[in-house]
Amino acid sequence: MAMESPSPYRGYVEHDGVLHCEGVPLPAIAEAVGTPVYVYSAAMLRAAARRMKAALDGLDDPLIAYAVKANPNPAVLHVLAQEGLGADIVSIGEYAHAVDAGMAKDHILFSGVGKTREEMEKALTGGLLQFNIESIEEAHDLSAVATAMGKTAPVGLRINPDVVAGTHEKISTGQADTKFGIPGEQAMEAFRTARALPGLDVTGVTIHIGSQLTSLDPLETAFTRLGEVIRALRHDGCDLSLADLGGGLGVDYGPDQPDPPSVEAYAAMVKRVTRDWDIRLAFEPGRSISGEAGVLLARVIRIKPGAKAPWLIVDAAMNDLMRPALYDAYHHIVPVEPRGEPASYNVVGPVCETGDTFARRRIMQRVEPGDLVAFRTVGAYGAAMSNGYNSRPLAPEVLVDGDRWAQVRQRVDLAEKSAMPLPDWLEN
Ligand code: LLP
Repeated sequence: MAMESPSPYRGYVEHDGVLHCEGVPLPAIAEAVGTPVYVYSAAMLRAAARRMKAALDGLDDPLIAYAVKANPNPAVLHVLAQEGLGADIVSIGEYAHAVDAGMAKDHILFSGVGKTREEMEKALTGGLLQFNIESIEEAHDLSAVATAMGKTAPVGLRINPDVVAGTHEKISTGQADTKFGIPGEQAMEAFRTARALPGLDVTGVTIHIGSQLTSLDPLETAFTRLGEVIRALRHDGCDLSLADLGGGLGVDYGPDQPDPPSVEAYAAMVKRVTRDWDIRLAFEPGRSISGEAGVLLARVIRIKPGAKAPWLIVDAAMNDLMRPALYDAYHHIVPVEPRGEPASYNVVGPVCETGDTFARRRIMQRVEPGDLVAFRTVGAYGAAMSNGYNSRPLAPEVLVDGDRWAQVRQRVDLAEKSAMPLPDWLEN
């Protein structure tokens, strides 16, 4: 397995009783930047990208298009662009991030059910590999936009294979009753319609059934159905050159959490199922590339007695890390300077909602007010989903690379007065 990295460090490791990110002690970052703060390991980002590239070795020119939504921080995208990754984007904002980071335009896939005409026009002007179209209505809109510009838009149709992904309902996307894709049984008709449109060049198929998948079975079922669609379309005279298999591979969130398949097992399954497809494959991994590379550092504000367990009140909240509140997601929480004895806590933030709970009766190591804790595996869908609820600023972000580190997002005050002007009739 090619996991070598230019850095001698391996992600998050304890040295002399202090948790480090690569060569940097986490307390140094917390002291300089303040908490809460997201920290990313460049070595871990590179290792994940290289591991996937190595696993896919043997395929003919596979495209790894990182799902920018998982972590759009420009520094993270730069590291991944240097590894040769492309981008799966869902907005023109993500398009700009990907291009600015140096990702090749012909490595960009544009997904999503709600691309506006303005976004289509901008992406067509800038250039991209393929629009992943999710409905015939969208195909008509894109054709009209392209025709008006005197261009032809490269298109793949997203098929909804009606597969139960076996993950949290809110991040399942492959069942018939979700907003995503074109139902498999309508694929033939949809392709015929789209191919007849003057502004489109329809050469791809795509699929994405959900996120944080911990079994390969639903993926294999979906890919097998996609293979049948490809065969039928070719039989119908459709010239297909790209099959985009989406993202979805889960990561290990810690003790007692479902074990995801390895990227090697995933790649072996893909190679077996697609053996005779004779088509270029694309992948849209998000979480499996950046998830493990990130931690959220928070400081314990105080500990309040509770009926079942003490309330461990930290200075990060549901606005900084939404996953526990939104999906009941588990994130491992570890003290940065462990004291060694176990304790049980309800870990909560300062936001005024009962949902602002990271963990209930979590057995972890004892901490005291002022101690630092790290929420693990938050490099994907962590900072990306943060918001300013309770007039809290967006947490800063830091990139560590060996012994070096830099702040790569300032703390952002969304409630800043200049951004929220008063109408003159309300001014005092
Ligand atoms: N491609 C498409 C079309 C997607 O919609 C997504 C994720 C991906 C690729 C990347 O999937 P991944 O490899 O990261 O599983 N906020 C949720 C996850 C939402 C995923 C949305 N789509 C969470 O925190 O779990």
